[in-house]
Amino acid sequence: MHFSKEAFGDDFVWGVSTAAYQIEGAHLHDGKAPSIWDIFVQKKNKIFQNHKGDIACDFYNRYIDDLELMHRLNIRNYRFSIAWSRIIPNGVGEINQAGVDFYNRLIDLSLSLGITPWVTLYHWDLPHALELKGGWLNRDVKEWFADYVAVCVQLFADRVKHWMVLNEPTVFTAAGYFFGVHAPGKKGLDNFLAAAHHAALAQAHGGRVIKSWQADSVVGSTFSCSHVEQFSSRPKDIFAAKKADALLNRLFIEPLLGLGYPTAEIKVLNRIEKYMRQNDLADLKFDMDFIGLQNYTREIIRYAMFVPFLQAKIVSAKERKVEMTAMNWEVYPESIYHILKKFAAYENMPPLIITENGAAFPDLKEDDRVHDPKRLQYLQDAIGQVLRAKQEGVPVKGYFVWTFLDNFEWAEGYYPRFGLVHVDFENQERTVKSSGEWYANFLKA
Ligand code: NOJ
Repeated sequence: MHFSKEAFGDDFVWGVSTAAYQIEGAHLHDGKAPSIWDIFVQKKNKIFQNHKGDIACDFYNRYIDDLELMHRLNIRNYRFSIAWSRIIPNGVGEINQAGVDFYNRLIDLSLSLGITPWVTLYHWDLPHALELKGGWLNRDVKEWFADYVAVCVQLFADRVKHWMVLNEPTVFTAAGYFFGVHAPGKKGLDNFLAAAHHAALAQAHGGRVIKSWQADSVVGSTFSCSHVEQFSSRPKDIFAAKKADALLNRLFIEPLLGLGYPTAEIKVLNRIEKYMRQNDLADLKFDMDFIGLQNYTREIIRYAMFVPFLQAKIVSAKERKVEMTAMNWEVYPESIYHILKKFAAYENMPPLIITENGAAFPDLKEDDRVHDPKRLQYLQDAIGQVLRAKQEGVPVKGYFVWTFLDNFEWAEGYYPRFGLVHVDFENQERTVKSSGEWYANFLKA
């Protein structure tokens, strides 16, 4: 590696990211009510080996040690999410003071350690009580969410300035409402389109709510994105890749920028009109202070006649026999560079922050140490590509590693380990991996 932190400039933000359901545990403690994930993990064979997030990293009880460790590793920005059903168990209405107290302690300790909190308001754990009323399929979710956002901002804005409205709407609407592989396990095009439109409304509206309570807030939202390439130069593959790109990379960012949905590429998106009301198009737009990009890999796309709606499919890393992570995602460091260039090219694009990037590998603990050379290499290469983009003028302002601790990786359970810190889920022991040591040294410089 031939660059140092200094090359990024003094104001570049370095951090780590986590999400409530993936680390907190204490899933029904101190007044917290179930979220859709607490319910979904109880269904048989939805999650790898029927794992659950009931305990996860027990961060709810161990956050003091964990934040002190974060501090020792020179990490000064921490992105975490708030569990909606810890703060408002029924999704709307009464506030659960014990839940509020937890986030108050977390925020206060972070600040006292010199760690800036970056708060995600929705990282996929909708209160189950709201799911019973239709969840993201019910247009009222926009107001339920707005009220929850207003509560959080009123409670925490005296100490929190950096907010992210939604985490990866493409993933939670597609996996949760089209494929049914994430909570709440719903399927089909209509469910997906309804959930997507309501999420797109909520993302813009949530931003407006934050600003209305805290004018000097720094508001963003985060988006999954992958560099997309066509399998061959056949026109059919090129068109298939364009459609996949529209779905994977543009579906939620473009309406936010005032460009509407990418219906030209994906005709079936026109059916979203069924859920649109007057003024929606204008309401989908909001000027974020930053856009959070979350990149892990690239996708190679080819034409596939039998795939409904898209006629496109991913040519997997396995089929291509390329180097992969434990998620079976191709290791392709240049992806993050291409993604940064792609989004920087939009007119009126706010500054970009990499709010997640990292890799899962089957890390083994040996003699009290965890050597993870592959993750180390992955992170160095990715950070190098971020620098490359920055040096070419891309307004990228920060980088957060996914993730601090090995944790509950949704449908994949505890199998994929993404952490800079190894967690032994038998006894909750933490061991800093060599990648964590490296990041600490890099940040110290
Ligand atoms: C995206 C999600 O935001 C996060 O929850 C997940 O664990 C990582 N990427 C890795 O898949």
